[in-house]
Amino acid sequence: MALRICAVDDIRVGKAIRVKAGEHTIAVIRNKEGEVFALDDKCSHGEISLSEGFVGKDNTIECWAHGAKFSLETGEALTLPAYEPVARYEVIIDNGDVFLEIDEA
Ligand code: FES
Repeated sequence: MALRICAVDDIRVGKAIRVKAGEHTIAVIRNKEGEVFALDDKCSHGEISLSEGFVGKDNTIECWAHGAKFSLETGEALTLPAYEPVARYEVIIDNGDVFLEIDEA
């Protein structure tokens, strides 16, 4: 099911916001080029919100706690101390709005 999350313009370029969608807490992130990505908000290394992290030029978000970097495109953990990926959500942009493909199952 595709859920409207926010407007693209609600997220500053190079920043992230945290949204709740049902059971999910999701970091919705704009890279330096303004493209939108969505990852599970919880760092796979600890109880830290990735939306409070740093968006890198290399399409990554870095957890502020211990510096693990995750790929915006795949959710893969690229640097230690995290080694587990975080879930990634399909983003649909329609008419300036951000929709996420969320499996409510
Ligand atoms: S909690 Fe994110 S890197 Fe440790």
